[in-house]
Amino acid sequence: MFITFEGIDGSGKSTQARLLADRLPEALLTREPGGSPGAEEIRRLLLTGDPGRWSAETEILLFTAARRDHLEKTIQPALEAGRTVICDRFADSTRIYQGATRGDLRARVDRLHALMIGREPDLTFVIDMDPAVALDRGLARASGEDRFEAFGLGFQETLRHGFLQLARDTPGRCVVIDGNRDAQAVAEEIAAQLATREGA
Ligand code: ADP
Ligand code: TYD
Repeated sequence: MFITFEGIDGSGKSTQARLLADRLPEALLTREPGGSPGAEEIRRLLLTGDPGRWSAETEILLFTAARRDHLEKTIQPALEAGRTVICDRFADSTRIYQGATRGDLRARVDRLHALMIGREPDLTFVIDMDPAVALDRGLARASGEDRFEAFGLGFQETLRHGFLQLARDTPGRCVVIDGNRDAQAVAEEIAAQLATREGA
């Protein structure tokens, strides 16, 4: 099974991806942008430096290049070996961050995805959060990888609505999880939702 976590910056995706991986000892835990040596190099280009460094169009190409390498080198081999793959962000992040924040580029994102990636997760957890709380959490980390956090609160609010709309549009794949609770409570709900899906 290929499981992804999506949501705005600081919503708790990495924490929840790790907690789920702890419950599934055979699973591979990975992330985007990154997850393979080549994609981690592209990650540095994307997440550091001046916020205006890349246009949304250039970002689509760079994120998709990173994703293609990640898929070839990390995700596909693990799925073919019969492992569950848990990925912190995937193509939905490009659909929303690049497709719906700086003009409507969604059709271009979808066409490039169909051409170069062509793979959707089996299950996506969209962690929903108040953007002000999430932004405080994210910036408090001071990771040095805050190029997108630097776009500010309005940008995070646009993202939130984008992710919720995407979840409404793809109810068979996406499950919205309320992230405004302590991490263990969120993890319990995610595990319960996964058990429901596996039983289906
Ligand atoms: P994301 O991957 O979505 O950016 P993280 O999992 O890295 O989010 O969490 C962002 C910050 O918030 C981290 O410092 C993390 O420890 C903290 N955090 C994560 N989940 C919760 C939660 N449910 N309640 C409070 N703080 C949290
Ligand atoms: P991530 O490390 O998950 O950041 P955070 O922990 O703050 O959520 O992702 C890095 C940033 O890259 C994040 O701000 C979202 C952005 N991003 C895109 O804009 N498009 C994409 O396709 C992906 C995968 C990430």
